Amino acid sequence: MARISAGLATSHVPAMGAAVDLDRTAEDYWRPVFAGYEWTRAWIAEAKPDVIVLAYNDHASNFSLDLIPTFAIGCAEEFPPADEGFGARPVPTVPGHPDLAWHIAQSAILDEFDLTIVNRMDVDHGLTVPLSMMFGRTERWPVRVIPIAVNVIQYPLPTSNRCFSFGEAIRRAVASYDKDLNVQIWGTGGMSHQLHGARAGLINREFDEGFLDRLTSDPSALRKMPHLELLREAGTEGIEMVMWLIMRGALGPSVVERHRFYHVPASNTAVGHIVLEPAGEL
Ligand SMILES: [Fe+2]
Repeated sequence: MARISAGLATSHVPAMGAAVDLDRTAEDYWRPVFAGYEWTRAWIAEAKPDVIVLAYNDHASNFSLDLIPTFAIGCAEEFPPADEGFGARPVPTVPGHPDLAWHIAQSAILDEFDLTIVNRMDVDHGLTVPLSMMFGRTERWPVRVIPIAVNVIQYPLPTSNRCFSFGEAIRRAVASYDKDLNVQIWGTGGMSHQLHGARAGLINREFDEGFLDRLTSDPSALRKMPHLELLREAGTEGIEMVMWLIMRGALGPSVVERHRFYHVPASNTAVGHIVLEPAGEL
């Protein structure tokens, strides 16, 4: 049977992707950022996931105000990198896993968790930057990916609790897939940052570190966190952290923290990264 063996969350700052693409990761500014991912690069080379279910948000690259799915699942054979205004990133096309994706769609929808099924989708930095942080520059991604696109762009957004519950539905879906697959769940975005308005440049280390703590110590408090609290404490774009709750919800009642990294700044955001594994059974 398939199983979710680990969860990973990370910021998806576009400039981190550019640092990889332009071979600037050893520069003084970027070295401490990429050092925070070295543990994970070694860990994932050992963990060898077959599939990553990757919750991220599209930044008006594939979707637009013409079509705003709250939760969309990519069921295609592959997902090309999106042109975000300067041409597509020079990264490989992302291979999908249609069979597991359709299984998750069926399981979640019959579990009364309605998803938008997407059979053609370009994926932007929200998905490709995390892959670059874990796998570096490569000719071919070493894993298949099922993109889960979450609307955090246009109000109304899904609640923290709904995201956490969606993670739980993904966990049930993966557990009922009858092929032996090592699956990881990733959530991307955050941490605290605000790109616009009077509070542009906002960083809230205390809130971010508390959020990282509570993923392990008190996830039930995070699932009750209202949008206004996220906006007030983490900024307008910090609300991307609801996608970390999809990751956390998919890991079951308790987890062990394997790795954590927090750094300010990267571009104009706080960078956060965490690796969790389910405690007890696998
Ligand atoms: Fe983003």
